[in-house]
Amino acid sequence: MSAWRPGSGALSSPGTGSWSWRCWWWWVVVIGVSVGSGDPWMSAEACPSFCSCSSTRISCVDPERGINAFPVLQSEAEMENITEIYIANQGSFSSINDKDLHYYKNLRNLTVTNSRLTYVSKLAFQNNIKIQYLNLKDNNLSSLSWRIFKHLNISYLILTGNPLHCSCENMWIKLLLGEEADTQELRCIEDGGGRKLLSRLTLPNCEVPMATLTPSKVRLREGKNMDLSCTTSGVPSPELIWNMVLVSNYEIETSGQISWLRLSNLSSLDHNSKISCTAENIVGEKESSLLLDILFPPKITKLSDAIPDHHWCIPFSVAGNPAPHLQWFLDGEAVTEGAYIMTMIHDVTEREYHGCLQLDSPTHLNNGRYTLLAENEYGTDQKDVEAHFMGKPWDEGPTVDPPEDRVAVYVVVGIAAVAFTGFLLMLVILKFGGNSKFGIKGKTLHFYLHW
Ligand SMILES: *[C@@H]1O[C@H](CO)[C@@H](O)[C@H](O)[C@H]1NC(C)=O
Ligand SMILES: *[C@@H]1O[C@H](CO)[C@@H](O)[C@H](O)[C@H]1NC(C)=O
Ligand SMILES: *[C@@H]1O[C@H](CO)[C@@H](O)[C@H](O)[C@H]1NC(C)=O
Ligand SMILES: *[C@@H]1O[C@H](CO)[C@@H](O)[C@H](O)[C@H]1NC(C)=O
Ligand SMILES: *[C@@H]1O[C@H](CO)[C@@H](O)[C@H](O)[C@H]1NC(C)=O
Repeated sequence: MSAWRPGSGALSSPGTGSWSWRCWWWWVVVIGVSVGSGDPWMSAEACPSFCSCSSTRISCVDPERGINAFPVLQSEAEMENITEIYIANQGSFSSINDKDLHYYKNLRNLTVTNSRLTYVSKLAFQNNIKIQYLNLKDNNLSSLSWRIFKHLNISYLILTGNPLHCSCENMWIKLLLGEEADTQELRCIEDGGGRKLLSRLTLPNCEVPMATLTPSKVRLREGKNMDLSCTTSGVPSPELIWNMVLVSNYEIETSGQISWLRLSNLSSLDHNSKISCTAENIVGEKESSLLLDILFPPKITKLSDAIPDHHWCIPFSVAGNPAPHLQWFLDGEAVTEGAYIMTMIHDVTEREYHGCLQLDSPTHLNNGRYTLLAENEYGTDQKDVEAHFMGKPWDEGPTVDPPEDRVAVYVVVGIAAVAFTGFLLMLVILKFGGNSKFGIKGKTLHFYLHW
């Protein structure tokens, strides 16, 4: 905070004489920027003259020359660096709308205090997931929806000094703040006009919803059918929302506070997919969810040519639940794994295991047809691949050249190239060497050749 750069506020000396000048400059800047960026929304000066800015903080506190919306800085990059915005004493600042804070994506601290804030859009902080500290003290907020904060992880929320109604819509604030509401001495205004500590607020027909998914676990063979039910409660009666992305077929049937999800012909592609049921009303939301556990036989989805890495690797991918047991064969004989040859799993995704048959310094004795056999209690799968590590001396074929051979090839090609260039130069010299017209050039070339 000590490193404040004096904003262009320094330019705005009072006095009508300089006003037209400033106006003129303003327009030059605005027009320049809008023409330059092609984005009219971005047309703004570096830091509004009535605010002060550092590279991480914007502060607008001057009640004389007020603002009615958040400042917009010149570039997106500058706004991304801002972690704190502090606004105070702004009599015309009344709302935070959908896009106002869109570019301030690293904002952590936001204060709007002693202003006339009346409305905060549900999407106001959509792009500001890092907000932790939100101070909206001494404004004109009568209600605030929990949906504004749904995706955030707020540590401090300060709302004292607002005419909050003692309504169900504000009940979530009491539930969220708990004892903190008393520490802040947060009060709400009853219909009669009386003020009441928010922590004492009790309302009939105002309850957080509940959602319960049954059964709570699904472990089934692929191809099977299954019904899930979601039961919700809460007043006002909540909206019930299923949330899932499935390959399997399903139908939804809802009746009052209960909804059924009828899954049919379960696909193994949905193994480890999440199914959730959410109940939502003005007091809040609750989610109940599960991960599908779908049992299916192994499927080798990839088995490719050996690649030289730190070790040699025959890469493979195999799906299966439960995890398949893997066995390798070389030309039909079981491979005994040990320090020099072993199966390594490098990555496990929702339904697949990705790995290598790792070979340490393989020789021609390791050449042959490799078969991978994957097995679990529901079935087996197998695939083959030819691997050729190093030819016997008399063995020509599609071998991967060992490094020494490759170096030798480069040397031969290099020598040939140099010799050919020399030959061309000689030709040129012989052709023009005796010609007086090109004598000098001939000599020059000679010089380079001897060099
Ligand atoms: C943003 O912050 C970084 C690191 O602090 C700095 O290097 C960069 O110049 C800043 N960008 C702008 C546009 O201020
Ligand atoms: C945010 O505000 C809190 C409380 O005033 C302060 O302790 C913290 O340092 C601020 N953080 C940033 C990133 O400005
Ligand atoms: C405060 O908000 C109410 C609406 O909730 C509005 O009618 C009133 O004009 C606002 N007061 C001020 C001073 O902005
Ligand atoms: C939310 O913030 C708290 C501390 O501020 C932290 O411990 C927690 O991990 C955060 N949760 C998420 C989901 O970011
Ligand atoms: C079940 O799904 C599989 C593919 O996932 C499909 O081949 C099969 O025909 C389906 N069976 C029925 C009865 O729909």
